[in-house]
Formats: sequence, structure tokens, C-alpha cells
Amino acid sequence: MSENLDDRLVKIGVIGVGGRAIGLIDTLAQMKFVEIVALCDIKEERMEDGIRTIRQYADYPVSCYTDYHELLARKEIEAVIIATSWNEHIRIAIASMKAGKYTGFEVGGASSIAQCWDLVRTYEETGSPCMMLENCCYGQYELAVLNMIRKGLFGEVIHCEGGYQHDLRGVAEIIHKGYQRSYHHMYRCADLYPTHEVGPIAKYLNINRGNRFLTLTSTASKSRGLDIRATKAYGEHSPIWHRHALGDVVTTVIKCAGGETVTLVHDTSLPRPYTRGNVVHGTKGIWMEVNHSMYFEPENFTTEDESTEIVEHKWKDADTYVKKYQHPIWDRFLNDGVTGGHGGMDYLVLRAFIYSVQHHIGLPIDVYDSATWMAITCLSEESIAKGSMPVSVPDFTNGDWILKKPMPDSPWSLDV
Ligand SMILES: NC(=O)c1ccc[n+]([C@@H]2O[C@H](COP(=O)([O-])OP(=O)(O)OC[C@H]3O[C@@H](n4cnc5c(N)ncnc54)[C@H](O)[C@@H]3O)[C@@H](O)[C@H]2O)c1
Repeated sequence: MSENLDDRLVKIGVIGVGGRAIGLIDTLAQMKFVEIVALCDIKEERMEDGIRTIRQYADYPVSCYTDYHELLARKEIEAVIIATSWNEHIRIAIASMKAGKYTGFEVGGASSIAQCWDLVRTYEETGSPCMMLENCCYGQYELAVLNMIRKGLFGEVIHCEGGYQHDLRGVAEIIHKGYQRSYHHMYRCADLYPTHEVGPIAKYLNINRGNRFLTLTSTASKSRGLDIRATKAYGEHSPIWHRHALGDVVTTVIKCAGGETVTLVHDTSLPRPYTRGNVVHGTKGIWMEVNHSMYFEPENFTTEDESTEIVEHKWKDADTYVKKYQHPIWDRFLNDGVTGGHGGMDYLVLRAFIYSVQHHIGLPIDVYDSATWMAITCLSEESIAKGSMPVSVPDFTNGDWILKKPMPDSPWSLDV
């Protein structure tokens, strides 16, 4: 690893300059080794915000485009970040890989399995690395738990849980503004946003590297929360009042080739505080995000101890363990004194992406990971439509998962 390469200047373009992109641009524009030389959005006015954000930190020239093909044609742009709404991610990522760019795209579920295969096949044809920028994989707790799993603290992992449990009832009120997410909530009954929790869990369970998701079932509750909000906002007799297809709570259960089970919950239409609801349960202990606690069986436990204090099964505050088993990635981050959106994980996922571009190496979340995580959305949609029937999760690696090695050659690897 060379220091020079860590500082090598990378010119990038950002496609889709909405709310999320502004946060990403703000973080990227502060990186001395990144120049955001081009922005693209179909709405011209959006790019003014982008330019204003860059200008807080830098004065290099920035070009603006309304057609992403023009941005992709710029030879000096090595890497592209796509922060459009969900339906455009894969289409633009494919064009970006074909243009020979390192491609990072924002989170979101897929609309069809065919487009996930297209993503994978384009990578295999072009060799252009492509990564979903799943920031939660770099969350402080997710990384500490990953480190503890790798160190064997939980023993053999048997079951994981996670969720996107976030009160988003506001989407029912902004449908008239053409916000794409609102339409997904209106027309689709699925786990619409699984990657914040399934990304870290897939890394915990070595999915696509020695393990894989085999099948899933999804079940949706009735739908009430969004309709109530739309009624409050518009009145039931307004021409823009609408009924929502999305069940308030969608529960998905996945079975893995290694025998583990995973439960995912999409819960965005009812009043509640935010959580990603992470649970890891192994033969030696358990972590539970919601009560911020862990429990580990004592090392020298014997069955005679069962009635004694030593195995009283008392929860312990997670922070003691998180401090002790801080992941090296997070240690570096704290030492560097960097900050950034979402408690630092936005910085980390972007730095991980740019590092791979600088060093011309593979990405810590690769195209197979991205396709597998995004596919959960349309697979859950299919299972719900079939009355919670099990559906197979495609093996996007075509069997390579069995022998595929972890990604060792990057300090940003989530596999070691
Ligand atoms: N990782 C996170 O923590 C996080 C947080 C918020 C949003 N997101 C994700 O970021 C993405 C964007 O979310 P948002 O809230 O900014 O949405 P948004 O609708 O505000 O922004 C999307 C932008 O993309 C533009 N766009 C759409 N099609 C385009 C095309 N063909 N070419 C160029 N521009 C195009 C739109 O005009 C809009 O400005 C979504 O995938 C969302 O899920 C991630």
C-alpha cells in the first residue's frame, strides 16, 4: 500500500443531485483527493445547490449536465456516484460501467430480478467495479458487532434480525410533488428498503463468500398508517387522496445455506422511533440493538452453573463491549478526527469507495453483494403476492460463493 496512492486525486461525477446527494457532495468536497468535476440532474435547479455546496470548500471548475450520458462521456472522470431515485439506479449504473467508470450507487431495492442480473452481467463483461454505497455497513455498532463475530464472541451465529423501522408517514403527503418513493409506497407491497439492515447482516454471515441466501418468505400486515396520513393531508374526497398498497409491517424470513435464519422488518407507516433493530444470536451470546444490550455466557460455563449467579442471564450495556471491540476501521476514523453525515458512516463508505478507485482494486461491497441485497425487495413482493409462499433467492455468483475468498487487500474490507 503506497501513501502516494492514498492521496492520488480522483475526479468524479455525481448523477442525481437531490437531498441525499447534497449530503454526499458535502462530505466528498471536503476530501482533498477528490474533485467533483461534474454534476447531472434532469432538474437544472437541483445542480445549483450542488455547486453551492462544493463552493464552500473548493473552486475547481464543475460542469453541469441534464443527460447523464454526457457526463459519462468525460474521459477524465474515473468514478461516478449515482444518487437518483430507486428506479434509475441500475439503469445508470450499467451505463456507467459500460463507460469504464468505477460506479457507486445509493441504496434502494430492485424492481425486478432481471435488472439485478443485468447489473451482474455488465460487471462481468466490462470489469468495471460497481458498489452499492450501503453506509450502514460502516456504522459504529455494525462494525463493532462484525469484529466481535470475527473474534468468535458470539460462538457460531445462528440467527440475525434487522429492520428499516422508521416513521416515514410523510411520504403520503408529498405525492403531488412527484417524489418517487411515495409512488413505491402507494403501488408496491414489499420490503421496499432492506439494504440498511441486510447489508451488515450479509457481511456477518459471509453471504456470497462461503454462504448464501437460499429462500425467503414475506408476509405483510394490513395497510392503515399511510391512508390515515393521506386523509389528514388531503381529505378522502380530494382528487389526490390515494390508498396505499404497502402493508404497515412487512416481515421477511430468509434461510441461508449455512443453516442460519434472518428476519427483516420493513416498518415505516406507523408512529415509532427509528431503529435498525439489529440482533445477532449465536451459541455463546446475543446482541440486541433495541435495548442496546449484549449477553455472553461465561467462558467456563458448566451445566451445574445453571442455577447459580454466574449464569443469571442479565443483559449488559453494549457500550462496554463496543469500546473494547471497536473495529479497526472505526478506530482509524476516530483517530483521524473526521466527521460527516449519519454519525460518520457516510464518510466511511465514501472513503472506502474512493480508496478502491485510487488503488485500482475491488470494492468492499461488490456487484454480487449489491444485486443480492437489492433483490430482497422484488423477492418479498413476489412472496407476498403469492400468499407468503417461499421464493428462491438467485445465486448471482453462479456457484462462486462456495469458494470465493474474502476481500483481504483493502483496509476497508468488511470480510476480514
Ligand atoms: N444511505 C442513506 O442513508 C440514504 C439517505 C437518504 C436517501 N438515500 C437514497 O438516496 C437516493 C436519493 O434520495 P433523495 O432523497 O435524494 O431523492 P430525491 O428524489 O430528492 O433525489 C433524486 C434526484 O435524482 C434526480 N434524477 C432522477 N432521474 C434522473 C436521471 N435519469 N438523471 C439525472 N438525475 C435524475 C431527480 O431529479 C432528483 O433530483 C435514494 O436511493 C435514497 O434511497 C440514502
